[in-house]
Amino acid sequence: MPAQIGVTGLAVMGANLARNFARNGYTVALHNRSVGKTDALLEAHGDEGDFIRTESLEELVANLETPRRVLIMVKAGGPVDSVIDQLVPLLDEGDIVIDAGNSHYTDTRRREAALNEKGLHFVGVGVSGGEEGALLGPSIMPGGSAESYKALGPMLEKISAKADDGAPCCAWISTDGAGHFVKMVHNGIEYADMQVIGEAYDLLRSAAGIEPAQQAEIFNEWNQGELSSFLIEITAEVLGHTDAATGKPLIDVIQDSAGQKGTGRWTVQSGLDMGSPVSAIAESVFARSLSSQRDIRAVGQKVLTADTTEVTLPENFVEDVRQALFASKLVSYAQGIDMLTSAAGEYNWQLKLDEIAGLWREGCIIRAALLKDITAAYSADEKPANLLFAPAFAEAIAKAVPAWRRVVAVAVQLGIPAPVFSSSLAYYDGLRRDRLPAALTQGLRDFFGAHTYRRTDKEGTFHTLWSGDRSEIAAEDTH
Ligand code: 6PG
Repeated sequence: MPAQIGVTGLAVMGANLARNFARNGYTVALHNRSVGKTDALLEAHGDEGDFIRTESLEELVANLETPRRVLIMVKAGGPVDSVIDQLVPLLDEGDIVIDAGNSHYTDTRRREAALNEKGLHFVGVGVSGGEEGALLGPSIMPGGSAESYKALGPMLEKISAKADDGAPCCAWISTDGAGHFVKMVHNGIEYADMQVIGEAYDLLRSAAGIEPAQQAEIFNEWNQGELSSFLIEITAEVLGHTDAATGKPLIDVIQDSAGQKGTGRWTVQSGLDMGSPVSAIAESVFARSLSSQRDIRAVGQKVLTADTTEVTLPENFVEDVRQALFASKLVSYAQGIDMLTSAAGEYNWQLKLDEIAGLWREGCIIRAALLKDITAAYSADEKPANLLFAPAFAEAIAKAVPAWRRVVAVAVQLGIPAPVFSSSLAYYDGLRRDRLPAALTQGLRDFFGAHTYRRTDKEGTFHTLWSGDRSEIAAEDTH
């Protein structure tokens, strides 16, 4: 029997996705550049379902039913192009090439256009959930043509995670690179989510002196309420873990410089390009970058003074931190979703925000109880212009604001960096302010560069003759 899908690239993610398809009853043809990985997979898990072993891409393609579905799971960038180049001559019109790696969505748009010209479908698929998710049910974000989804969608839905209501955590996102774009934004939110958890941990430890083991209990407790999420759950696991070699909390022996493969940075770069204020995500990326400047930080420790202020911690400091964490987390989701809205306009994607939030409910790294409410907010007839304006969230964040301000004040007074707690609060305050100092920015731009400004009391664009008699003239818009 020919296989319904072929998988090439059998490192952990590819192997686990292949096994997931097989465990769900599909026949899967396997290929890897070095056959050793294929054999290792078959040896360890060959009895989980129907696999076909192949040694070349020609053989892989020859073993597939039509239209052929070939899933590529190799390192993003050049390796994807190289596999595509080898595959294309082997395929026929209507066949579907799937890239399930973390590719940049602009690469996906380029590849899709190129393969379309050859009569092939190219589907960029965002897959989240790490190794375990790939095997047991990830959250899946497919882009590409609606037509390709007809042939591929049911299989992806079958292997995806399922939400509480039984809905698959997989839905067609929109055309070309939309799936990879949404996965990129997911990762941007993931960065911010992890950073706010880190800031909460740091404040509890450095301001309140709560040791990791006790914090594990606090995070476990938080996981029972509105913060309930995968990342909070595993934070408790990591903080509660003791290093076997030293007997110390593991967290104390892990080097404090965070790595990054690039998706968070891409989110921020795209946010900048689109004029979408993803400040919480940007601060998370920068926090990782600063953490990695170990040599410079070593000097900073010696030459920079703290000059902190004595503070009496607020009475319910732990609860305050919980609320600050929740509010900042809401902001990072709001900013990520705002970026989706900007991208929909820019690329003409019909993004359904309720479906996207819906497929993040389970399977992915940012899965959280909160996503159920976000899904509901965007299913309502009246869609909020910003997540924070949805009645349920406006109310939730209003409750957290006093605690949030207290926590940011403590962080500032004690010299504990909390870039996302504080920048999220600034975003919140920026959103609700009647007048922003941007009026002054405009005045300055007009002064030094005749960049013009608009007035609050009449239509049109104006310029003040700053170096002349300072009268105002109507001007061409050079905003
Ligand atoms: C996921 C993760 C996954 C991966 C990140 C890590 O959704 O399953 O986001 O894609 O863990 O790429 O990214 P960094 O190395 O940049 O933290």
